[in-house]
Amino acid sequence: MGELLVLGIETTCDETSAAVVSRSLTGSGEIRSNVIRSQVEVHAPFGGVVPEIAARAHVEVLDHVIAEAMKQAGIAYRDLSGIAAAAGPGLIGGVIVGLTTAKALALAARKPLIAVNHLEAHALTARLTDGVQFPFLLLLVSGGHTQLVAVEEVGRYTRIGTTLDDAIGEAFDKVAKMLSLPYPGGPHVEEEAARGDAERFMFPRPLMGRREPDFSLSGLKTAVRLEADRLAPLTDDDVADLCASFQAAVVEVIADRVRAGARVFREKMGRGPSALVVAGGVAANGAIRARLKQIAAELNTRLAIPAPALCTDNGAMIAWAGAERLARQLIDPLDVSPRARWPLDPVAAGPMARA
Ligand code: KG4
Ligand code: ZN
Repeated sequence: MGELLVLGIETTCDETSAAVVSRSLTGSGEIRSNVIRSQVEVHAPFGGVVPEIAARAHVEVLDHVIAEAMKQAGIAYRDLSGIAAAAGPGLIGGVIVGLTTAKALALAARKPLIAVNHLEAHALTARLTDGVQFPFLLLLVSGGHTQLVAVEEVGRYTRIGTTLDDAIGEAFDKVAKMLSLPYPGGPHVEEEAARGDAERFMFPRPLMGRREPDFSLSGLKTAVRLEADRLAPLTDDDVADLCASFQAAVVEVIADRVRAGARVFREKMGRGPSALVVAGGVAANGAIRARLKQIAAELNTRLAIPAPALCTDNGAMIAWAGAERLARQLIDPLDVSPRARWPLDPVAAGPMARA
């Protein structure tokens, strides 16, 4: 197999996206197009993603988004090596829309179908953007996921830590909501934090110092709520100080948990990670990025954080994961099922597991 050219489709949450990515024989990649249509405005009035509305919005725009991705890449369906879609985990209505469309295209164009795990796609993006080699330590931090994963190979993932309650992005969003900041809250909390006093409130740093690299955010979130209730009505300075103190706690927790994760990685793999890779929307946060840079230096490894547009949900990551799988002859039958839950590491996914 020579160069691979793969179309990727992403519809698991509130982004409708399609992209064309190439993968050379040597394993380097190039994004030929990456069309992303966000539904943020559609869901903003509800303060969160409404699954039924999301599914309908995907149906309305997906065909157009795919056509645009193909046009920008300047290719025809016959030029493709395969067609990939995120088959989960995510909101099942949206997943069905994307996967069914990919199946129809694969059938009509007689191309192999690749059913991609959305989390795997986040994990492998840094190989496209930064040429990261296996094995590496992945910190996945988004609105729905908070995980530390040892990535050994395509398809070989060991989850070494996860959140016991809220995802980090979710905690940012909830704090924003209680302080009446717009949705999605992460960027607004960061903006407020930049002009606030991070030492005004000493919020708890849950699980800090524990050996197991897990996360817990709900106690921290509750502490912010209690403080906000006590101070109400809030001044602009109160809001900024609450955001700064909250973010400082999150930054310290992440630093400590990543250190614990690196220790477990070393025990399990018998070596240190070739890189610390960060993915998910929260990776856009400047304070978190800066701290992780220090941690990577401390761990003697490189830090790889894809550009913000490739950290959040996008079709290019699905196309790339599809190409990585296709290069290893990992393809799927046309009757492959969409999955609302689909843990990267089925072994670690006990009864406590979140998809
Ligand atoms: O990966 P993503 O686009 O969607 C999924 O959740 O899959 O991540 C979105 C999350 C939201 O919770 C959002 O508030 C958070 O990432 N986020 C941030 C920042 N930008 C986005 N959190 C903290 N600081 C930011 N600058
Ligand atoms: Zn995602």
